[in-house]
Amino acid sequence: MSELNTIALKILSNGKGILAADESTATMTKRLDSVNVPSTPENRLSFRETLFSSSSMSECIGGVILYDETIKQQTSNKKNIPDLLQSVNSIPGIKVDTGAKSLAGSPNEKVTEGLDGLRDRLKEYYKLGARFTKWRGVYNITKDHPSKLAVHSNAHALARYAALVQECNMVPIVEPEVLMDGNHSAEDCLKKTSEVIKKCFEELILHKIDLTGVILKPNMILAGSESDNKINGDEVAKLTVECLKNSVPSEVPGVAFLSGGQSEIESTENLNLINKVNNTNFIMSYSYGRALQQSALKCWSKNITDIEGTQKVFNHRAKMNTLAAQGKWSKELEN
Ligand code: G3H
Repeated sequence: MSELNTIALKILSNGKGILAADESTATMTKRLDSVNVPSTPENRLSFRETLFSSSSMSECIGGVILYDETIKQQTSNKKNIPDLLQSVNSIPGIKVDTGAKSLAGSPNEKVTEGLDGLRDRLKEYYKLGARFTKWRGVYNITKDHPSKLAVHSNAHALARYAALVQECNMVPIVEPEVLMDGNHSAEDCLKKTSEVIKKCFEELILHKIDLTGVILKPNMILAGSESDNKINGDEVAKLTVECLKNSVPSEVPGVAFLSGGQSEIESTENLNLINKVNNTNFIMSYSYGRALQQSALKCWSKNITDIEGTQKVFNHRAKMNTLAAQGKWSKELEN
């Protein structure tokens, strides 16, 4: 078993998942604005430290994706954030892309940037304690999108990123997110997501990536958020498993879904249903941002010194998702 495979399995085994706390400062500011808390470095740290010190961390959260600011911050007792995570048995990870920018040649689509200087940044993050990384490509579905150009450009960038990350002995999370915005059908989502994922693996193989040391972070197969033809959870699960079975090489150890704007309960319920029908060898777990943090953020914003109350809310969501990652969740457990 390779060292990278061991890391990937440690992050995802026994129902553990990933806390995606890697919101850029701009995104975190939007989240804090929405609950009327000033977005200062201290407040961003305080919320994140509250989550990272929760009792569910060691049992549920195998890895945390950090943002550049956070990986360099220290807790109130002067502990480095990566050390805090290691002390609760969670592996520190880091977002390394620098964002999705307008794609020249198809300006209504995006390509993710961040390859220049990446090798040096990776070395620095490794020294700070990171053992896995994240890069997110983003695609929208319309009549003409994603274009072949967007599918190809993002896959190429993801593969070059993954090669540099493995060279630096870290596990790359490969995240091709097909957005749920729009009125497309679930069938469209299945078709486009399959095309996008297949292209990513074609490029990863071309770039000689050790697939046993990769985690795929895909979207679930859903109808667009403005579609009149929504599908139920059983159908989401069936199409999502079908998509991954047909597009992901069998060497890949695991998949960690993004929540992508689904509600907390919806993303837990769908993950549970996926695990009930998962007939692949891939671990299917979670790498949620909003779906793990939304309620905790609301609670924290009412009184940012109420650490216990905030942790209670976060612990509940982490436990629910860890049950869902094993197909053991039920609605009654939410009460
Ligand atoms: O890249 C996306 C985030 O890491 C996951 O966030 O679960 O809120 O979609 P989300």
